[in-house]
Amino acid sequence: MTMSVPAAPVGIIGGTGLASLGTLEITGERSVTTRWGEPSSSLVEGRLGSQPVVFIARHGNPHRIPPHQVNYRANLQALYDAGVRVVVGVNAVGGIHADMGPAHIVIPDQLIDYTWGRASTFFEDELEEVTHIDFTWPYDSSARDVLISGARNAGVPFSDFGVYGATQGPRLETAAEIARMERDGCDIVGMTGMPEAVLAAELGMRYASLGLVVNWAAGKTERVITMAEIEAAIAEGMSGVKQILERSVAE
Ligand code: HPA
Repeated sequence: MTMSVPAAPVGIIGGTGLASLGTLEITGERSVTTRWGEPSSSLVEGRLGSQPVVFIARHGNPHRIPPHQVNYRANLQALYDAGVRVVVGVNAVGGIHADMGPAHIVIPDQLIDYTWGRASTFFEDELEEVTHIDFTWPYDSSARDVLISGARNAGVPFSDFGVYGATQGPRLETAAEIARMERDGCDIVGMTGMPEAVLAAELGMRYASLGLVVNWAAGKTERVITMAEIEAAIAEGMSGVKQILERSVAE
């Protein structure tokens, strides 16, 4: 007799514009708490194809928690406690690189952290020793590869590289800040990529990000950035994000 081992669930952290996944066959929903406090939303458990998935809405559902107030530690710990070891974070971002305009999808391979004052480590109390994790490659290469093949199969335009600059928010940047970030090497800018990536790494989880560009970053066009253009890009690009998730996770 053979016994099949149940597959570990994949965690999906939905960002702005992705508070739920329509194609997820929902099997349960649980409100949980962690030693770091409450996560942003309940955990929605389900399946994409045969793959178990645990979904969490980063900004809450409805969308109400700003990027600097998200309890990233509780979100990652809740996923970990649910058995998740592979996490995909979906992030709305601004485009800096000339090829990364609205509705484009980016699977970043590096990041620069400009955030401040966020609880950004699990290693700070009741320590037996000081821990410095290696963070040379902030995104897991095997998780990225799965997303890249999923994006190729889905046939949606995307970039398989990019430096994610994580800013504090909730305001958008000045044109000079974006010019500086471009000189630093940033290709996209968002407010939620950190400390999410490092907390996943501290827990030993494989983490990759799907960035949906929802506006040109400040100063990249003559115009100011409006919520209307952001909403239009979300409407245009989120179906591609969902297709990539389905192709990557379910197949
Ligand atoms: N800057 C920072 N975060 C963002 C942006 C931006 O232009 N667009 C979406 N998230």
